[in-house]
Amino acid sequence: MPSASPVLAAQAADEAALARKKALRQAFGAFATGVTVVTARDDQGRPVGFTANSFTSVSLDPPLLLVCPAKSSSNIATFSSARHFAVNILAADQQEVSHRFATPMSDRFAGLTWREDAAGQPLIAGAAATFACARHQLVDAGDHVILIGEVLESEASGAAPLVFSQGRYRELARQVPAGGIRVGVVALHEGRVLLRKGGNGGWELPLGPLQPLFGPARSACEAQLERDGAAVTITHPYSIYDDGEKGESRFFFMAELDPGATLAADMALFAPDDLPLDLIHDPGMRDVLLRHGRERQKGRFGVYVARDRQPGSVSHMTGGSERWPDIFLPDSFLTEGMPK
Ligand SMILES: Cc1cc2nc3c(=O)[nH]c(=O)nc-3n(C[C@H](O)[C@H](O)[C@H](O)COP(=O)(O)O)c2cc1C
Repeated sequence: MPSASPVLAAQAADEAALARKKALRQAFGAFATGVTVVTARDDQGRPVGFTANSFTSVSLDPPLLLVCPAKSSSNIATFSSARHFAVNILAADQQEVSHRFATPMSDRFAGLTWREDAAGQPLIAGAAATFACARHQLVDAGDHVILIGEVLESEASGAAPLVFSQGRYRELARQVPAGGIRVGVVALHEGRVLLRKGGNGGWELPLGPLQPLFGPARSACEAQLERDGAAVTITHPYSIYDDGEKGESRFFFMAELDPGATLAADMALFAPDDLPLDLIHDPGMRDVLLRHGRERQKGRFGVYVARDRQPGSVSHMTGGSERWPDIFLPDSFLTEGMPK
């Protein structure tokens, strides 16, 4: 077989090397970083800087950080020899600043608001944090150098940082406030109460997963019970309170276990007099069950609604439930007015 021409072989090797480089760049890009602008003064005293995401905090004692300028940088001579430099961690609203310092232009500081640190290095206004540094060490590293700086001054503004990942600028998702709501049930079957095995060999009332809103929390609770062979029909609200320790709201309904239930192995029905109250470790659930037991004896149930940091109250209502909005206003209202 004739061997491939040396030109074609060299082309194939070039293409393979390019593909490897692209794959490496893509893999490096999977590491989400902040974005910095590294600044210094050139030998004429002019402010210079470039965008860099190769920033790493290195040491607290002594305080050290590093950035990696490319040897191809137009300012490599300045950054390799400067006795001082500064690092500006850009804020989420400084994408334009990042772009400016990553694009060739004669004066990247034109029209930008900045000030000097004690050694005269440029600190960019509005940055999420700034570090005034003295050069600590310069390490040769392939097509880059590792510039290690000793931090002389640092300041963090508290602004949210600009984030760079997979070749694109990102903003951190706004923090979801802690907390949420769980819906649970006091579900009865022929007068017996449905409980589920909990941690520490204890028992607990069936309680759905944490959700940000009430509606999804109720649906999630009902769906979970159905999956566990314990579908219920919810009848009344029974107890609404905040579990301060867990930082979540709890909403317990009264419910009836649907006929034909085949309970999951970790569920059981307990007669009111046989409730394992000493094994209900959750204080809120124990209170719910104690009140339920007392109210059952009296034959009069109420709805407990808590107050912030004070005991709540139990309101009594009679009658069953009807579907909203069927009960709101009859069609006849428009022609005949409110029914007597
Ligand atoms: C998000 C981002 C991160 C970058 N990180 C670095 C880096 O760590 N080191 C580097 O040398 N160049 C980095 N660059 C590229 C330089 O900012 C860019 O090549 C710039 O034009 C260099 O300017 P200079 O040649 O004037 O120094 C980055 C660019 C962007 C957009």
